Amino acid sequence: MRVPTAGAVLLALAACRGDKTYARDAVPSALAPAVAAAEAALDAMQKQLAGRLGEALAAGGPLAAVSVCSEQAQSLTAAIATEHGVALGRTSHKLRNPANAPRPWLQPFVDRALTDPIAGPMVVDLGESVGVVRPIYVAGPCLQCHGDSAHVGADVAAALHRAYPDDRAVGFADGALRGFAWAEAPR
Ligand code: HEC
Repeated sequence: MRVPTAGAVLLALAACRGDKTYARDAVPSALAPAVAAAEAALDAMQKQLAGRLGEALAAGGPLAAVSVCSEQAQSLTAAIATEHGVALGRTSHKLRNPANAPRPWLQPFVDRALTDPIAGPMVVDLGESVGVVRPIYVAGPCLQCHGDSAHVGADVAAALHRAYPDDRAVGFADGALRGFAWAEAPR
């Protein structure tokens, strides 16, 4: 039996909404400028969030870093979005912050995160705009706030629960798909 690839399934799902989905290296040239704008914003967001997190972990450990993440991730992302003239964010199949819920075009990627995940960046033609979505994976330091109870300290777990009563973003293993970074740039 032929097993459909992630790309094929996403294409079929996206077709229901009328959007066209492409692997990053198969993007039509008409979309290239918007893809470049989306990727510049994604690079900036991922670099700055990682930098801020690394500084906070080094300075105060995971408990102090929780408040840095919860107080700065949203505003930092919003500032980069404005600067680049795009919509920008992170989402997941197991959300921590409900404000990171997926936009409709991201829903197929989220729905398939556990069964048929994308293995690399994908591009979605949204008509007036172009969406770029990248998978995000768990690495060692992430486990302090997204791992199981062997990795998340009791004090950190309590702080996370206070800030995010509906937190679903724990129990991840090293290397697991944590979620997605996405950007949407005008055509
Ligand atoms: C110090 C604790 C901490 C560490 C370490 C940490 N995170 Fe998070 N993470 C958070 C908090 C708090 C949020 C909610 C931020 C917000 O309000 O958007 C979050 C949100 C996210 C989100 C957004 C989706 C959602 O569920 O709301 C992703 C994706 C994510 N983290 C990935 C990672 C990855 C990958 C790493 C490792 C490189 C990591 N995190 C390390 C605390 C942490």
